[in-house]
Amino acid sequence: MSDLKPITVNKLLKYKKLGRKITALTAYDYSTAKAIDKNGIDFVLVGDSLAMVALGHENTLSVTMEEMLHHTKAVKRAVKRAMVVADMPFMSYQSDEKTALLNASRFIKEAGANAIKLEGGYEHIINCIKKCVESGIPVLGHLGFTPQFLHTIGGYNVQGKNVETTKKIMEQAKEIENAGAFGIVLEMVPEESAKYITENLSIPTIGIGAGRYCSGQILVIDDVLGKYQDFSPKFARKYADIGKITEKAVSDYIEDVISSKFPTEKEIFTLNEEERKKLENLD
Ligand code: KIV
Repeated sequence: MSDLKPITVNKLLKYKKLGRKITALTAYDYSTAKAIDKNGIDFVLVGDSLAMVALGHENTLSVTMEEMLHHTKAVKRAVKRAMVVADMPFMSYQSDEKTALLNASRFIKEAGANAIKLEGGYEHIINCIKKCVESGIPVLGHLGFTPQFLHTIGGYNVQGKNVETTKKIMEQAKEIENAGAFGIVLEMVPEESAKYITENLSIPTIGIGAGRYCSGQILVIDDVLGKYQDFSPKFARKYADIGKITEKAVSDYIEDVISSKFPTEKEIFTLNEEERKKLENLD
């Protein structure tokens, strides 16, 4: 890690200007977040993907504020340098600005997050972004495929597949930028569309399934490590196969216990000589 200074919103904006790619991963627990931070990532997102990869839900919709806060606190305890961005769960900001602000502030005050992320570009979302930023809460937007809109989108579909829909995403991205967000996640957008949007914004875009020309990239850590086996998105790259390694380790452990190969002398505590003798002479 070359620069040990904590990452700030200004640094991310500077990276975009310099053309230095921004790096981000999700994390949901202390030890994983610690390993990620040690390696010099720019920001860690406590994503609502937590619902699926850590809690086993079918989609992201059912994760609660309390669950998101619980995991954000764990991640924050581990992370010393990167920015910690907390994902606002479904219906924690959509109803009204006051609720949005109160919930956003809980991530900052109670969990120690540095910023929050929310999905969508409709007018009421833009108003929430403004309210948060004007209150001192940095906001990361999220456009393209937005999992909290799964049922209205109608599936895990690529967004911005033609000029018309790309223009719509661009308009919303501009509004998010004007509302004061420090960046926008672009999820499952064709590379050409993501490039156009990136080139027409002054804030960075962070791509996930959005091609090579975004200002940075983010992936779900469980996909990177090969831990989440239920589904593997086309855009994710598996850098390890922790799922397989875990299965093998568990199977070896079971075998060692059954065959009394575990524990051995090296893995036990013993009484001293005097206490051992006393124990042997007990009736
Ligand atoms: O919840 C999440 O992990 C996300 C990323 C996919 C950007 O929103």
